[in-house]
Amino acid sequence: IQWTVYPNHRAASHVAAEIIAATLSETPACVLGLATGSTPLDVYTELARKHREEGLDFGRVTTFNLDEYIGLTPDHPQSYVHYMNKHLFSLVNISRDRTHLPNVQTDNLDESAKQYERLLKAAGGVDLQLLGIGANGHIGFNEPGAGPESVTRVVDLAPKTIQSNSRFFESEAEVPRRAITMGIATILRAREILLLATGSSKADAVAEAIKGPVTSDNPASFLQTHANVRFLLDPDAAARLT
Ligand code: F6R
Repeated sequence: IQWTVYPNHRAASHVAAEIIAATLSETPACVLGLATGSTPLDVYTELARKHREEGLDFGRVTTFNLDEYIGLTPDHPQSYVHYMNKHLFSLVNISRDRTHLPNVQTDNLDESAKQYERLLKAAGGVDLQLLGIGANGHIGFNEPGAGPESVTRVVDLAPKTIQSNSRFFESEAEVPRRAITMGIATILRAREILLLATGSSKADAVAEAIKGPVTSDNPASFLQTHANVRFLLDPDAAARLT
């Protein structure tokens, strides 16, 4: 895994935006894999700025998000569909019918997950996947225990993830317990992967993912088996690598 340390979160985010913008310019009809959470916010702000000020064109792009909480309505402020609309989709000229998040507004969640996997394949797969990482090494909502063969499916969130994500909710009790997430195998099918990680809470997970054994104990470690992965880090997240 190739990794680079930037002076701070903003600088690392801008490099991620640069790489995504270059992909969009070279391949306007590319398929982007997108993440939510705190980490990519500056990436989306910078992409929106590039659209506004430099004419970066999202007109032909297709997007697939990694995951969505089960149990929130689409208009819930913490749903990932709401997040994407707010932080990116409403700010650029993207065609909404080419944006995808797992559909959780259904009685048949297992079928919805399978349908997402089929849609991804039909779109030709992800060209460039943006990832964050959980403090426990999760990518998407592939918590410790997730295997390399896993595909898009319904999962339970780890207690640590529920606790960590409670910062976005009024109380821990309000954090959804389940989600639909792309699997490890789904993520590894992307042609290129960028993982952005900043802050000291990610230092252990990052070091284990890059230098530790390839193991379900740290799902991000499966990225070692992919030929084209880059970690963009700040000094805090890289602290245990040197
Ligand atoms: C988000 C996602 C998660 C986050 C991870 C880090 O779509 O799949 O894996 O990337 O939980 O979250 P933040 O960036 O909030 O620290």
